[in-house]
Amino acid sequence: MPSHHTLLFLLTCYYNIPKTMAFPTSPSVTLVSLLVSLLVVISTAGNFNQDFQITWGDGRAKILNNGNLLTLSLDKASGSGFQSTNQYLFGNIDMQLKLVPGNSAGTVTAYYLSSKGSTWDEIDFEFLGNLSGDPYILHTNVFSQGKGNREQQFYLWFDPTADFHTYSILWNPQRIVFSVDGTPIREFKNLESIGVPFPKRQPMRIYSSLWNADDWATRGGRIKTDWSKAPFTASYTNFNANACVWNAAKSSSCKSNSPSSESPTNAWLSQELDSTAQQRLRSVQKNYMIYNYCADNKRFPQGLPLECSHT
Ligand SMILES: *[C@@H]1O[C@H](CO)[C@@H](O)[C@H](O)[C@H]1NC(C)=O
Repeated sequence: MPSHHTLLFLLTCYYNIPKTMAFPTSPSVTLVSLLVSLLVVISTAGNFNQDFQITWGDGRAKILNNGNLLTLSLDKASGSGFQSTNQYLFGNIDMQLKLVPGNSAGTVTAYYLSSKGSTWDEIDFEFLGNLSGDPYILHTNVFSQGKGNREQQFYLWFDPTADFHTYSILWNPQRIVFSVDGTPIREFKNLESIGVPFPKRQPMRIYSSLWNADDWATRGGRIKTDWSKAPFTASYTNFNANACVWNAAKSSSCKSNSPSSESPTNAWLSQELDSTAQQRLRSVQKNYMIYNYCADNKRFPQGLPLECSHT
């Protein structure tokens, strides 16, 4: 297997409507030096038929409405899941989800980006179901080179089962930002300069699954899934990606994946949180965060992870 250092990547770049290809005008390379890449950035208003594949669940996952809606379901026999057709190396990815309504205790809806292998990278949203009327927990984590243990959990400021809401991952070489309906809730900065590994070399796919985790999900596993309420269903719509698509198949020269200044569509590649966004992030963290690994001194008796002093 060729190493990532020598692989030449082809990143494809879609602007606006699905699959109108446009190559960046400037061939300058400003990204990570190890990323010797032929890149094309895409912006795609998604269609589930093209952008995703159902990977498991034996008919429990369905793509509906000409590819505009995807549903996952879970019953006692099985859950279900899907993954993106493309692998991405950086992206600004939105998905709207409507979570399992009613008594969803014991169920987990996972929506995440992940690479492969034993030193994988991963960026996680997980929605832990709850009894009817009780709040879901939004669980987040970041794995870098196989190491996670970076959980932050939140309550949401709305009922995530009543309507679709937008869950976004901005992943560029400098930072990972989790947002909900456009409000940033978590930022994981690139702190390689102080020795914290940052996901930036391994392409990731988008994955999602709905499964039974009643051994731990709701109130630490004390509340079990009520199978009389099955099947449980979660829905997805309005997938939208501005992203660098990875394609190892061919390509031999190094092109740009740089956010060329002439191309505002690629601004996300160097996007940071402005002061308003930072203020909103702090406000969510103050009012809705219910667990923060960086505040869990008991869990890290040898000292908090390095990044905790830089957030
Ligand atoms: C479910 O609701 C209970 C009671 O409000 C709450 O303590 C708990 O954090 C909620 N979420 C989960 C996933 O247990």
